[in-house]
Amino acid sequence: MTAKILDGKKMSAEIREAIKEKVVLLKEKGIVPGLAVILVGDNPASKVYVGQKEKGCLEAGFASFLHRLPETTSQEELLALIDKLNADKTVHGILVQLPLPRQIDPDTVLAAIRPEKDVDGFHPVNIGRLVAGLPASEPCTPKGILRLLKSTGIPLAGKEAVVIGRSNIVGKPVALMLLAESATVTICHSKTADLAEHARRADILVAAIGKPRFVTADMVKEGAVVIDVGINRLEEGLVGDVDYEPVAEKASWITPVPGGVGPMTIAMLLENTLEQAEKTGASGR
Ligand code: GUN
Repeated sequence: MTAKILDGKKMSAEIREAIKEKVVLLKEKGIVPGLAVILVGDNPASKVYVGQKEKGCLEAGFASFLHRLPETTSQEELLALIDKLNADKTVHGILVQLPLPRQIDPDTVLAAIRPEKDVDGFHPVNIGRLVAGLPASEPCTPKGILRLLKSTGIPLAGKEAVVIGRSNIVGKPVALMLLAESATVTICHSKTADLAEHARRADILVAAIGKPRFVTADMVKEGAVVIDVGINRLEEGLVGDVDYEPVAEKASWITPVPGGVGPMTIAMLLENTLEQAEKTGASGR
């Protein structure tokens, strides 16, 4: 079998186009969706991500409020900015780019964002709502993965889903979202015994571990849907967590890197911000 490509770039462009049209209608009502992005320090990858987020906002017709803070910013200074943005009616979404410098505790910072403005879905209230199966602001990368999976038309209920990676940003939330779709979910991680054996059972395999070409063809069942969340910057260029060519020979569907999951993350961030703007209207409350 040769896999069909799950084209995140194309799907993201379609979603962003639909968002742009909704923004035009909202603007007629006097509402401009606003996203505040906070970048602390000079992490090169974070700078790239934040640049993409700002570009996405501007293309969609959003107001983009970018706050670049120095590496030496104290936790108190960052919390003071978040307080200000929490109260700002023109800001519908607040995103603090991770990782943060060592002097700042990310859990304290994420918990300081008003849950309704937490368009990343990282606030403990939103995580709790996701666990409980209640409507929540869903983390962008997992939400994008589910959107890609659903576009295949393959029912998720009853499928064996194996997630490799247990991060708060991708592994854990995507596992919960697959569970909510009634898949049978296994989470594998660095301490998993015989990880390949688990992976070979998967109808849906999500690789989110940050190790270049970790998932090899012998770990993949014939006909599996393979989602590659890896963005590994090597000298040769951008490489995913999946050994793409040999795995594509066995899978039924596969996401490329770049052009798979990555572009979907931005589209979902814009969608979360738009939904919040629609909910709160011009009042910002
Ligand atoms: N760092 C890596 N991915 C993300 C993300 O999705 N959101 C934020 N805020 N930081 C990140």
